[in-house]
Formats: sequence, C-alpha cells, structure tokens
Amino acid sequence: MILRLALLTISDRSSRGERPDASGPALADAAAKHGWSVIRKMIVPDDFDAIRETLAAWADSGEVDVILTTGGTGFARRDVTPEATQAVIERPAPGLAEAMRSASLAITPHAMLSRAVTGIRQRTLIVNLPGSPRAAVENLDVIAPVLPHAVQLLQEDPGAEAGHRQA
Ligand code: MTE
Repeated sequence: MILRLALLTISDRSSRGERPDASGPALADAAAKHGWSVIRKMIVPDDFDAIRETLAAWADSGEVDVILTTGGTGFARRDVTPEATQAVIERPAPGLAEAMRSASLAITPHAMLSRAVTGIRQRTLIVNLPGSPRAAVENLDVIAPVLPHAVQLLQEDPGAEAGHRQA
C-alpha cells in the first residue's frame, strides 16, 4: 500500500532559514524506503496557529493519509506542537504515542520528555515526532509496521479485515 504522507517540520530557526531542516529530509528518506510518497512538505515556526492551520488544511484536503510532524514536543516554552495537534484531532489514537515512548525508553530516558500526541482528523492520521532527525526516524520506525493497516481502517477499505490477522 502506497501511503500519501505529509511532512511538517516545526522549528523557529529552520523557518527563519538559520538552520537547515535535517529532520524533514530524514523522514522523507525513511518514507522512500517504505515506498511511501511524500505529497506535502512545509516548515513552520513553533507557532500554535501556523501549526493548527497547516494540519487542518492538509487533513481536510482529503489527499493525505498520514501527517508526520517533527519538533516542538518537548518542555520548552515555545514547544506547542502537542497543543496545536490536540486542537485539530477529532479522535485520539494514543496507542501510537504510547508505543513510540515505550520503545524509545529502551534507547534513552529522555523519551519521557516527549509530549507527542497522535490522533485522527477525518481520514488522516496525525503523528507528532521529536525534532532531532535521529529521534524522529527512531520513532517512525516504531509505528511504521502498523501504518498501512491504520490507513486501510481509516479509508474503510474492505481489505482491512485481512490485516487484522497479520503480524
Ligand atoms: N526518542 C527517541 N527514540 N530518541 C531520542 O533521542 N529524544 C527525546 C524524546 N524522544 C529522543 C526521543 C528528547 S531529548 C526530547 S526533549 C523529546 O523527544 C522531545 O523532542 P522535541 O522537543 O525535539 O520534539
């Protein structure tokens, strides 16, 4: 199944051009390895309204299966990605965030500092990932095996039933 992904890099410095965005390209590489296509990419500052509006527009376009955000999930005052995500999701899907934190804890205790949110708006799954390229890909690796089935279920694909029996 070829997933249609959108990548939103959330960083004040990258949005001002002061630091190249390394996480967006790292996630694009990881997506390519799975054979998924990246159909939207953007860099926005750590700004609640900019994040909320972009997530809502992408989900409401009906063209994006999964939105991956990277950055802004920590404890800094400007880290508002989880709050902006919470504002747009209609149904929480906490199992994905729980799995990412749990698996990441085996790598670093800093995983406890991720406030990442995962949830659904219309037929789009929205996933917050951490800001560093390595951490973002490590977290994506945790949920990648279940994303095709998640998207099948969101699309009410009749083939989704068979996926329940896999892995
Ligand atoms: N998860 C994994 N797998 N690997 C990591 O290095 N870094 C953590 C955490 N999750 C990390 C991780 C750190 S240091 C923080 S502060 C939080 O993600 C939030 O990151 P963010 O503020 O860049 O979004």
